[in-house]
Amino acid sequence: MDSRKTVLISGGAGYIGSHTAVELINAGYDVVIIDNLSNSEKEAVDGVRKITGKDVAFEIVDTCDKDALRKVFEKYRFDTVIHFAAYKAVGESMAEPLKYYQNNLVSFMNIVEMMKEFNRPNVLFSSSATVYGEAEHLPVTESTPRQPATSPYGNTKQIAEDILRDCCRAYPDLYGIALRYFNPIGAHPSALIGELPRGVPNNLVPFITQTAAGIRECLSVFGNDYDTPDGTCLRDYIDVVDLAKAHVAAVDRMTEGKMKEKYEIFNIGTGNPVSVLELITTFEDVNGLKLPYKMAPRRPGDVTAVWAETTLANEVLGWKAERRLGETLKAAWEWEKKVRGV
Ligand code: UFG
Repeated sequence: MDSRKTVLISGGAGYIGSHTAVELINAGYDVVIIDNLSNSEKEAVDGVRKITGKDVAFEIVDTCDKDALRKVFEKYRFDTVIHFAAYKAVGESMAEPLKYYQNNLVSFMNIVEMMKEFNRPNVLFSSSATVYGEAEHLPVTESTPRQPATSPYGNTKQIAEDILRDCCRAYPDLYGIALRYFNPIGAHPSALIGELPRGVPNNLVPFITQTAAGIRECLSVFGNDYDTPDGTCLRDYIDVVDLAKAHVAAVDRMTEGKMKEKYEIFNIGTGNPVSVLELITTFEDVNGLKLPYKMAPRRPGDVTAVWAETTLANEVLGWKAERRLGETLKAAWEWEKKVRGV
């Protein structure tokens, strides 16, 4: 393994991690996946192996366990880490803030500490559009001010960004990129990997696909009295394969020594706002089915609208979202059918 072309992926058995592993391997990188399987299945790693035809290194490791993490650094040579491993349920984070601060921040600090200890240069962090909150101007650019976080989950993203910024400033050999994801949806076109939420899904698309599969009776549209064209919230839904490719572009930039600053931030979205109702209609159209849905009260904490200005990612990373919403929603449904055997 060439260390420059090897990437450690924490949380690599998860939804975005597994898709990113595939695209990195397709681009010629070797990957080492670590995951504690707290919210993922080891079958996702098998899916990565099947899609790529490569034998991917995989270790069951909790990134909060520093000694176990140190063993991974002793065993494998890599220049770059992508840190996905984190809890991500907004509502749960309100009920159990310590669980979120403990897991999301300790794991990230351990990663950065090991990178420093072992002289490994590149840290790529999974951040979120949640840092923008209810933004004053839309679309949001990377320099749109962050708003105070409205959930402990969102706060862990902001704090981790700041940790990375400060560490890159302080440690001469450390470089960081934060990718701020908008709303990742869809699945790999092979239907071998995809999103697999445990319990009742919090996010819109898994709720839609589970409703279409008959697992949920009816989809609730949370609020139709927002100040938007059809009254429902606007989001920037980004295909997970496109999102995975953005990571490849960011890793290329780091490993090819092209970074202009020691710490850089990129929005990763399509740049197109889509309403909840538009998304439902598109899902129905492309998959030729009708979804049972009803209007419901607003969900506390939801922002009215957020979508990305993507010029920086387009021009500096040379990356652009390519897949159309319809294709993405078809892939999401194919994956759900595969998982449920329908
Ligand atoms: N929605 C419904 N019904 C559902 C689920 C969602 O109407 O059953 C609506 C929401 O109200 C929202 C839109 O669909 O308007 C998208 O909701 P998601 O939960 O899919 O996504 P969010 O934009 O709320 O969440 C995203 C990320 C989180 C992040 C959050 C912060 O997935 O990681 O943005 O705003 F924290």
